[in-house]
Amino acid sequence: MKLNIAVLAGDGIGPEISVQGVAVMKAVCKKFNHSVTFKEAVCGADAIEKVGDPFPQETFEICREADAVLFSAVGDPKFDNDPTAKVRPEQGLLAMRKKLGLFANIRPVQTFKCLVHNSPLKSDIVDGADFICIRELTGGMYFGEKYQDDNKAFDTNLYTRHEVERILKVAFEYALKRRKHLTVVDKANVLASSRLWRKIAQEMAPLYPEVNTDYMYVDNAAMKMIQDPRFFDVIVTENTFGDILTDEGSCISGSMGLLPSASTGTGTPVFEPIHGSWPQAKGKNIANPIAQILSVAMLFEYFNLMDEGEIIRNAVNASLDANIRTPEIQVNGGATYGTREVGEWIVKYIKTH
Ligand code: IPM
Ligand code: MN
Repeated sequence: MKLNIAVLAGDGIGPEISVQGVAVMKAVCKKFNHSVTFKEAVCGADAIEKVGDPFPQETFEICREADAVLFSAVGDPKFDNDPTAKVRPEQGLLAMRKKLGLFANIRPVQTFKCLVHNSPLKSDIVDGADFICIRELTGGMYFGEKYQDDNKAFDTNLYTRHEVERILKVAFEYALKRRKHLTVVDKANVLASSRLWRKIAQEMAPLYPEVNTDYMYVDNAAMKMIQDPRFFDVIVTENTFGDILTDEGSCISGSMGLLPSASTGTGTPVFEPIHGSWPQAKGKNIANPIAQILSVAMLFEYFNLMDEGEIIRNAVNASLDANIRTPEIQVNGGATYGTREVGEWIVKYIKTH
């Protein structure tokens, strides 16, 4: 296969982990005889500094023409502490999602056997947890009409039937491929937008008779996720609830540095770690590259290249088992490895297995 990849490294630790993702992708393509080309483009604070726009037109065009985007992270504390800033790095991310039509954000939560002790939750609660959050990504309050003056402000949580149907379809299809249990998370006891979601989900559920569909209010789901994470298989929810629940879910694994995600829809799909730009660690060679590397696995799997995805997953598991780990997940007294060393170990594993 021929793959053209847009590489958006962004800010903070983005460039360091991006290098490792690209190296893994090259190694896998070489092994399986795929030809791959990479085109780098700027985004986030880096792009604001260089061209004054967090998602410039040129970057958009590079993404649009690519088969997939390998994205790292955006964000810079300079902007977080300035509520008057006219442009922010995060706007680049939102613009990318909207312009590429990425309405479905897929965030898998899995535990790694050798890391369950690292979770803030008791290991017998998290051991074996394995679920996917499907978050709607281009609607709701993020993009609805907004207003702000000194005395009043609002955001509009608008959803249309079309938006709800297409994300639910993605969710039902994921459930069919997994343990066939779909949980629709909403706040239908209070919100009109949620009542529409639930109505449409109830209309669609009979089309997927093999799927056991249930409904849960978001406050209850937040509780259930830490009380009994193994309950879940596929969760589907709106943009804002999904933002919050996926941060909660990411803790279950024991390190945010392990979890990848995919954003798919009508345009070029984007693969990225779920963690942010961790500016304090920039340039220190301490960030875990695994979330980025597993994003590459998701990229291959998106194109149905399952063996390619599998060798990456095997390599990552082998590195964890061999204790080739960045500091945040190293066992007491164990040697620690840097971003680069972990990445290089994984590349070597791929080349030799
Ligand atoms: C995420 C992030 C973004 C979001 C921010 C950076 C705009 O938190 O991808 O979850 O809220 O969607
Ligand atoms: Mn978030």
